[in-house]
Amino acid sequence: MSIRYNADSNTFILETRNTSYLMKVSRYGNLLHLYYGERIPDENLDYLIKVQDRGFSPNPNEAGNDRTFSLDYLAQEYSTDGKGDYRVPSMEVMNGDGSQIFSGKVDGFKIYKGKYTIKEMPSLHATARDRVDTLEVRLKDQESGAVAVLCYSVFEGKNIITRSTRFVNEGTCAMRLLKIMSATVDYKDSDYDMVYFSGRHTMEREFNRIPVRSGVHAIGSTRGTSSHQQNPFLILCEKGAGEDHGRCYGYSLIYSGNFIMETERDQFGQVRVNGGINPKGFNFLVSPGETFTAPEMVLAFSSHGFTGLTHLYHDIYRENLSRSPYIKKARPVLINSWEAAYFDFDEEKILNIAREAVGMGVDLFVLDDGWFGKRDDDNSGLGDWKVNRKKLKNGISGLSEEIHKLGLQFGIWIEPEMVSEDSDLYRKHPDWCLKVPGRPMSRGRNQLVLDLSRRDVCDYLVQVVNDLLSDARIEYVKWDMNRSISDVWSGLLPADRQGETSHRYILGLYYVMDEIILKHPEIIFCGCSGGGGRYDGAMLYYQPQIWCSDNTDAKARLKIQYGTSFAYPVCTLESHVSVCPNHQTGRVTPIETRGMVAMDGVLGYELDSTRLSQEEKAVCRDQIRFYKKHYKLIAEGDYYRLSSPYENPYFTAWQHVSKDKKKSLVSLVLTDKESNDAQRYVKLKGLDRNAMYKIEGQKERYSGAVLMYAGIPVPTELKEYEGVQFCLKMV
Ligand code: DGJ
Repeated sequence: MSIRYNADSNTFILETRNTSYLMKVSRYGNLLHLYYGERIPDENLDYLIKVQDRGFSPNPNEAGNDRTFSLDYLAQEYSTDGKGDYRVPSMEVMNGDGSQIFSGKVDGFKIYKGKYTIKEMPSLHATARDRVDTLEVRLKDQESGAVAVLCYSVFEGKNIITRSTRFVNEGTCAMRLLKIMSATVDYKDSDYDMVYFSGRHTMEREFNRIPVRSGVHAIGSTRGTSSHQQNPFLILCEKGAGEDHGRCYGYSLIYSGNFIMETERDQFGQVRVNGGINPKGFNFLVSPGETFTAPEMVLAFSSHGFTGLTHLYHDIYRENLSRSPYIKKARPVLINSWEAAYFDFDEEKILNIAREAVGMGVDLFVLDDGWFGKRDDDNSGLGDWKVNRKKLKNGISGLSEEIHKLGLQFGIWIEPEMVSEDSDLYRKHPDWCLKVPGRPMSRGRNQLVLDLSRRDVCDYLVQVVNDLLSDARIEYVKWDMNRSISDVWSGLLPADRQGETSHRYILGLYYVMDEIILKHPEIIFCGCSGGGGRYDGAMLYYQPQIWCSDNTDAKARLKIQYGTSFAYPVCTLESHVSVCPNHQTGRVTPIETRGMVAMDGVLGYELDSTRLSQEEKAVCRDQIRFYKKHYKLIAEGDYYRLSSPYENPYFTAWQHVSKDKKKSLVSLVLTDKESNDAQRYVKLKGLDRNAMYKIEGQKERYSGAVLMYAGIPVPTELKEYEGVQFCLKMV
């Protein structure tokens, strides 16, 4: 078993191949955090718990006259609240008597083989090859009957520990859950930086690194989605940590709605990390006998820097997260109509684009927004998922047949969670969207959000989308979501339960996705929320790929894809070649570079192929051939960031290395060209230092050691935004 309870020291010991995680039951029953980090021998760590009389640190009643025991400074596994711990709490509950106290003491535990399950939300699963054990510890507040069941599953070989918390009301009065974190980890020391990924629409997941300073720093979303603005992924690392060295802890939340990740450095320099559903606007009534489950947090530890952490997340997310069989299959190279035509198309135009794309080697045509209802711009039509015959005279099935005759697969865009006021659906069911009666509602992109906290609305969507999918041959669906949620209020919940709406929306969304996406394993679903506004583990459970950003500019994408790569595997990141000047930035980059950047993900095209020159089409053809040849390496290999676009203004480079280290693909884009430039070098990573490698197309051989430690010169003849890409093979 990778989990043990040592009854002599009252310690729980969780072990993966390279990490240990220890917690201890205090003499008063509190669960104290002891250690998380490199694997350590089985020794008693009691000496780490130092108690002392601290001014203004209250002592719990059970400590009697002992003024040294205080929850104000002890490292806890899941904090108490209202009993003298003033740091950001793991849980806030309002008891039946109005008090806001949770004093959870260990009240039993169980250890079992296999992974705990979360019924209503996505979570990791164990494959037949994984050794996974689970610990559930009950922390009970005896006075109120509130119970927090802390769940830990240990993926031994993958060096991952998942956590979730179940709140159970074992009391006699209804309780209000005001905050519930999926995980808390208390560090006894101070010297940490936090790394997180913030951004905005068309510029997602920008890399941030700041020291953890005194006080609380929170990142999160209250937009109803995991958001463009902050991603539910946080790294806590020691000061000197970098790509290849240093201790780093990863926190990745499998949740698509409002989330929070808090770090707090307290008065004694200790650091607490909390992560879970954002408490803002959250207020969940839990009646006696009822349970509330928090989403899953995936914890990883690496003593080999960010790269080590990235490999842990990439491996587990490729193997143990997605329910789509496509996660393991080569994805078709697609061409998407959005930047090619926006809303302005008819069947002929679409077929012409598709026809030209065949010659480029494309496999799949995706019809984006504008094919349904009254939808000539983005002000109307959402909700009416019936084809617009003025644009597509033979309907979706007719178009799909024609596309298939060309030898292409067919895909379609939908945005099921939304409704336009100018739509038949809204006219029929104005009460089906989120809005507060008596208050003028806010619009986003001139659209409203359907109330997915209602089962009737969800069931309607399941029916409509499943009908659409059965009416035509559809092999790919792009599932979009184009506004931040506001005016949160549900017509079916009583006033005192409105604080449940945002979370119930997300549960409704997962229900809809269960009933549509999981019922169609033969279709590739691509996640999208105005690009990467919902790029999170829960969406990857349903959708093997996500449209990473509405920004298709190759230079901007270097940063966006760099940030995305820290937690999310390359084979989940959809990326397209578009035209220049780029529609978002106006920048002009060579088509070769656009291809190189787009194949650092799931390659696609988003342009009017009828307007490409013969030369450009030939370049695209070569790109697709090259990408398909190296797909396995790109999708299944280990990923290395060779330089940071935030630190190195001159070039951005990255590398894919096969697991057996026999093949590697190196890509580099020159991001700033200076006259009479310095000779720069790029040092490769992940190779076998003792093996010899040959660069494809060249005669010379170099050892892995030379390529990694001496490096390769960056060609000075490269012009700005040009790049190089080459393959290495072990000889
Ligand atoms: C936002 C998406 O990110 C775009 O790719 C496109 O599908 C538009 N929505 C369509 O409205």
